[in-house]
This record gives sequence, structure tokens and C-alpha cells, in this order.
Amino acid sequence: MEALTLTQPDDWHLHLRDGAALRAVLPHTVRQFARAIIMPNLHPPIRQVSEAAAYRRRILAAVPAGQLFEPLMTLYLTDHTSPAEIFAAQASGFVKAVKYYPAGATTHSELGVTTLDRCNQVFEAMEAVDLPLLLHGEVTDGAVDVFDRERVFIERHLIPLKQRFPGLRMVFEHITTLEAVQYVLSTDLMAATITPQHLLLNRNSLFQGGLRPHAYCLPVLKREHHRQAILQAATAGNPKFFLGTDSAPHSRDRKESACGCAGCYSALHAMELYAEAFESVNALDKLEAFASFYGPDFYHLPRNSGSLTLTKKPWQVPQTLPFPDSELIPLGAGQTLSWQIASPG
Ligand code: NCD
Ligand code: ZN
Repeated sequence: MEALTLTQPDDWHLHLRDGAALRAVLPHTVRQFARAIIMPNLHPPIRQVSEAAAYRRRILAAVPAGQLFEPLMTLYLTDHTSPAEIFAAQASGFVKAVKYYPAGATTHSELGVTTLDRCNQVFEAMEAVDLPLLLHGEVTDGAVDVFDRERVFIERHLIPLKQRFPGLRMVFEHITTLEAVQYVLSTDLMAATITPQHLLLNRNSLFQGGLRPHAYCLPVLKREHHRQAILQAATAGNPKFFLGTDSAPHSRDRKESACGCAGCYSALHAMELYAEAFESVNALDKLEAFASFYGPDFYHLPRNSGSLTLTKKPWQVPQTLPFPDSELIPLGAGQTLSWQIASPG
């Protein structure tokens, strides 16, 4: 049987939620990944180091017995974040980055930043202590077409921000466009995460035979030429591009609704989905560095010492998964994937 053994990977962009939802989804991540960058968009968000410490303890308490997992925490940036909080974050050792959500851009972003300029002192502090800034890179201007929001964010906000803080390391999260790929390639101290859905699907998937809420996430899926650009970037063996699932669980009833939530659930089968995407362009030999090397290198953390083996053995993605008071529909439910996780090492 064909097998692929990789250094154990990490997920550099993950939503775990809290409470019973956290306990439902965390085992899926732990089965594959040694570490993950944990998104802070809880309700209310994780704005302080003390809140990150408490959330980290709740995550560790939910790790299945006998398994190892290290949550890498982030703080949620607001108009009121203080430079002192940044220094405390850096001193904590467990806060690894700060997350920028434009106010109103996505799930639980109401308390996000209204104007980037309000955070100048915070960015100065982050630049000084070398704490990375993670960007949800979309404008929220209602006059901008929803499919253009990432591209316009680059021109309107990211280029000026980078000019003001050239030494601030940034991750352009879940990139979806050719323009984002080109910008990351041309800019120093700028990396990007890439999700499985943006590698595997284009925007036609949102409307295939009807409206498909489980393929809806933010930034929304784009045209095929954008998908090809990010697939090319992910599989090029360039350390600027690494794995971040953006697995974002929402219950079935909140997705299948008159106003459905944004987010795809991929934690169940993330590595299998990435393997499918890499194999589609004969680039399985580039998967290990994308999944296991470039992320820790960017975050100045050691690479993992364990391993993960995938075997070529078709299996069907389940239609539903258990989730508190409801169900969870995984990305690609009911479809057949060709790679399967064999043995966590
Ligand atoms: C995320 C969520 O649900 O928390 N949703 C999504 O579509 N990606 C928020 C986010 O990362 O935008
Ligand atoms: Zn996200």
C-alpha cells in the first residue's frame, strides 16, 4: 500500500470554540496536529493575557487522555488594546501572536478594530518585541463587492501598514486571491496561511445544484484562477506559505439558516484534504514542508519530532458528526477522499 510519512504537522489557524463544542472538536485536531494557533474570537473575545491563560487551561483539560497537544494562544486586537498587554503577551511565553479582525468582517468580530491607525502604538510594541500580527485581510466597506474585499484590503490597508511598520512580522491569514499571493511573494517579513477549502474549491461550489451553506466561509471562495494561484503557491516549496485550516465549527442549524454562519469544518480530515489537493498537481513531495516545517520556522519554534503517516486508502467523509445540541457537517461530507491517516506517531 502507498504510504506517506511526514514529520508531525501543526495547524497555524484554528477555531476551537469553548465548552462542549471545544470538547467535541478538539480530538480531531489532536489526532493529526501537535500544535495549533488558536483563534481568539470567542464571545466575548480573548483580549487579555489572563483570558488567554484561562482559555489555554480549558483547552488542555479537553485534550483526550494520553495524547499531547500544545495550544499556541493569540490575543484579539481591539481599538483599546494597550502596549502593556503586548509586553505581557510576549513575556507570557504562551501567547504567540495578535489577531486583527476588521470590526464586522466575520464571526464575533464586532469588537474588532475600527481603524488600523488607532493601533499604531500597539504595532510599535509588537514590532519592538517581534510578536507577529495575524490579519483577517478583508475590507468591510459595504460598497466593495464581497469577492473583492481581500484585494482591496491589500491596496487600502496592508500596503500602508507595512510601510509604517516594516519590521512587524505578519501573516496574511487564509489567503484566497492571486493578488494576495503576489503581495506576499513581493513583501519581506510577510507570510500566509492557506486553507484546504481554498485549495480544493472555487466559488462554483457555493451554488452547485443549489445553495451550499457548508462551503461558505470567509473570505468567500473565489474564481478558479485564484484557486489555481494559491494551489501553485502552496505547492511551490516556498516557506512564505504554510498550513492553516481555519477549521471553524458552527452547528448544522446555524449553517442551514436564512442567515447562515461563515465557516467550514475541516479539523476532522485536514491532512487528508491537503493531501488530496497536493496530489492533484503531483506535489505530494511538497506537503511535509508546507504542513510541518515552514510554520514553526516562521514562528521561531522547533519543528516537531513525531510523525504522521497517511496511506492511500479511499474512505468516505461522514455526513454528520456529533456536536452539542445539534450536528456538525464536515467539509466535503459524503465525498470520497483517497488518503487516510494511518498512525499518529
Ligand atoms: C470564522 C469563524 O467562524 O470563527 N469563520 C470563517 O468563515 N472563517 C471566522 C474567520 O476566521 O473569519
Ligand atoms: Zn479563522
